[in-house]
Amino acid sequence: MARLKIYGKTKLCGRVKISGAKNEALKAIPLTVILKNKVRICNAPNIIDVVNQAKILESLGAKISFADNVISVDPTLITRHDITSTCAGKLRASIVFAGPLLARFGEVSLPYPGGCLIGARPIDTHLNAFRQVGAKIKENKDVFSICLANPTNSNVILQEKSVTATENIVLYAAGVPVKTKIENCAIEPEITDLLHQLVKAGCRIKGIGERSVEIIGSKDLSIDEFTVMPDRIEAGTFAAAFISTGGQGEISPFPAESLTSFLDILEDCGAKIKIKDDTAIVSGGGKLKPFKISTAPYPDFPTDLQSPMSLIAACAEGESIIIENMFENRLFYLNELKKMGLKAEILDPHTAKINGGANLKPTTIESLDLRSGITLLIAAIMTEGTTIIENAQIIDRGYEKIEEKLKALGAKIERID
Ligand code: EPU
Repeated sequence: MARLKIYGKTKLCGRVKISGAKNEALKAIPLTVILKNKVRICNAPNIIDVVNQAKILESLGAKISFADNVISVDPTLITRHDITSTCAGKLRASIVFAGPLLARFGEVSLPYPGGCLIGARPIDTHLNAFRQVGAKIKENKDVFSICLANPTNSNVILQEKSVTATENIVLYAAGVPVKTKIENCAIEPEITDLLHQLVKAGCRIKGIGERSVEIIGSKDLSIDEFTVMPDRIEAGTFAAAFISTGGQGEISPFPAESLTSFLDILEDCGAKIKIKDDTAIVSGGGKLKPFKISTAPYPDFPTDLQSPMSLIAACAEGESIIIENMFENRLFYLNELKKMGLKAEILDPHTAKINGGANLKPTTIESLDLRSGITLLIAAIMTEGTTIIENAQIIDRGYEKIEEKLKALGAKIERID
């Protein structure tokens, strides 16, 4: 358990470099299972979730080293298709090993995934997709197994536009030499990039970036290097941090093209943000208008940027509305911010309203999940006095060198482990 002591208030100012995308690096690791050669995953963020995902791959037999944001993997040494590593229960993305292991070995068994407690997070869409390609599934209390001896051409219609379910079935399809059509796909930028990397490795794919994708996989995939794209959620979070602390800064690389819905809302609010090449120049301090956001799969407003928006709502003049459609426990961080004096009301598990203009007061608060954790950290930076954040180690799961980056922008943070 870690606790952060934040001495506010600080207007964050300066330049910040965005790390590689957590939610892409976490899928690049299982992708290596279907490759025939050694591969380097570059720009991988050195964060707890990525380290745990790499440990799972290592437990299957792969040789791995992780230094200077490069994960070098020799997947030729993988011999196991049963995941027993306790790391699997620590993150949601562990489930994305199912597809590539099934493709390579015709069978796989793994524990149910873990991850942030942001809602029920079922895996029915994953299992249903595997059933549609002809796999047999056995579910026990702690472990489930999937087997499919002879892959054939198939059509899959995903029940939900689930990010990890799309990735799981895509990585299965990429590793088997048959044609798989997948409909109702999630099209988050990390998925689109994953598909492009698979094409580079030798897959034939039609419909990249569309809801319906057709993949002809191969047992002979090979790629030397996989470069992880910049983390759009970290980039958006820093934009919210500069705006809500009233500071000024430059964020790069800033993947503006994958943050359109977020940037549109900021523009409507009156936030000052200019994009120049791959850099966002953000100036806080002006008047902000209230807003309404409603989270939904990409290209709509990302659930992972919902909580930082509450800080902009806190600074806006009037009542903002947040509708969190994706996960039913993702508004509870507002109860922590209410302890600091935020004028917020959770109307139901999916809807909250926030009135701006309250002077936040320091107190002890607790981070509930990774995205709300960073939000509390920025709220503490906005607040005069000493705020304490409990359960702060959860923030390390998703943000690389976060204290270092915030301190370089002027924040005063002390960690007590
Ligand atoms: N859903 C089902 N059944 C399933 C899978 C999903 O009903 O089998 C529902 C979920 O309950 C949810 C919706 O579908 O309402 C979307 O969930 P999705 O499966 O897309 O979420 P995920 O794949 O578990 C990923 C990210 C999350 C991010 C969501 C939405 C990873 C490892 N996680 O989760 O990231 O919030 O997509 O974009 O890629 C985070 O980074 O903090 C994080 C939670």
